[in-house]
Amino acid sequence: MAAVGSAVGLGNIWGFPFRLGAGGGFAFLLVYLILVVFVGYVVMLGELTIGRKTGKSTVHAYVELSKKYKAIGFMGIVSGFCILAFYSVLGGYVMKYMFGFLMEMFRGDNFGGMSSGEYFDNFLGNVGQGTLWFVVFQAITILIVMGGVAGGIEKFCKIAMPALVVMLVIVIIRSVTLPGATEGLAFMFKPDFSKLATFSDFMGVLRSAAGQMFFSLSLGMGCMITYGSYLSKKESLQFNAMFIPIADTTIAILAGMAVMPAVFALGFEPGRGPGLLFVTLHGVFMSMGGFIGPFFGFFFYLLVTIAAVTSSISLLEVCASYVIDKRIIEGKEPNRRKYTIMIGAAIFVVGLPISLDGLGAGIMPALPESLGWVWLELYDFIAEGVLMPLGALFMSLIVGWVMKKSFGEEVRLEGNKFGTESFVMICAKYITPIAMTFILVTQVMDFFGM
Ligand code: TRP
Repeated sequence: MAAVGSAVGLGNIWGFPFRLGAGGGFAFLLVYLILVVFVGYVVMLGELTIGRKTGKSTVHAYVELSKKYKAIGFMGIVSGFCILAFYSVLGGYVMKYMFGFLMEMFRGDNFGGMSSGEYFDNFLGNVGQGTLWFVVFQAITILIVMGGVAGGIEKFCKIAMPALVVMLVIVIIRSVTLPGATEGLAFMFKPDFSKLATFSDFMGVLRSAAGQMFFSLSLGMGCMITYGSYLSKKESLQFNAMFIPIADTTIAILAGMAVMPAVFALGFEPGRGPGLLFVTLHGVFMSMGGFIGPFFGFFFYLLVTIAAVTSSISLLEVCASYVIDKRIIEGKEPNRRKYTIMIGAAIFVVGLPISLDGLGAGIMPALPESLGWVWLELYDFIAEGVLMPLGALFMSLIVGWVMKKSFGEEVRLEGNKFGTESFVMICAKYITPIAMTFILVTQVMDFFGM
């Protein structure tokens, strides 16, 4: 359940709907689901198993397998830095909306008469405020990890995750009953292969779906290695590796169903990019009217904040536990508080350009036009686009070609079943490495405009 808490977060609620919108709806959903089965499940099982087998957090786990794998672990730490940097900026935006709806509940002045787009742009342009919320979100993450109470998070997830599902269902009901909403459902579920017709279209969707999959399932950076190291030998790894992606994907699809119908009903552009969630749902809640709209809006963003925090602590925990475990191995005082604050502060510095950029509305210099990105997307590209596929590539090669039988032995400990062993081995040996190589090569070519 704690791993589900790590997986379910802004990736599902914010990332999935906006990439679904940009990737042509159905085409993206189809490619995403195929990737979850053939790559997500395998990498999830690989990471959990390596973690449990070695009983160590990411870098140390790789070193335990072989000294030469150390760099793979480090790549994960760098990804964690990049992701947490933009994650906390977005987490701050979510908190700003939570607060905005709370104020609206009492004021009821329709957000000062601003449309959802105007309200969002106005907030983004105000980088001081954006940075303030970024600090608040980052501080909450640091405090929880510092206290070392991350373990207590599991109980919390058991209540917050079902509550989030209930809230999503309420939003879906409102969203699909808006006039013109069925078009959004058709966009998601009606087969349409035109977005995959040419090779470059297909690769574009594949890359975006792959990045989204790593991000949403918390894979490719060693996070699930760290979680796996806490699993007891009695637990079924196979079951966990199926359960986490199923829960995560269900919530992502629910979020898509909450956002997409409203995008069409309210006349937004599905390919609008990273701001899609904020502007669309604002419109949905306001259409509920009176007190009830802001009330649901507040609760929704409160639950999304909780989901985001249970994810961000897993990111910081991975980075901090590397240093803390290293000190323990060296026989030094772990000094959890000190190192968590230091790393958290470093991530704040790394994230500052993103918050000052305000998704392009702020004061950072624009990135080269040929990239067509805001700063957040650059960080996202480094982690999701390059380092995480690379991490998954190496990990699956290790599982398929180095660990081989010993991998299955770990999964089968204490009489657990491993019915999918041949499937996993074929994916780990061939399918995942080939898919990842494809993604990485076209990614680099695209980056250099080849
Ligand atoms: N999966 C989380 C989400 O969807 C984000 C996250 C948490 C993550 N831990 C991670 C992403 C580790 C990549 C790696 O919001």
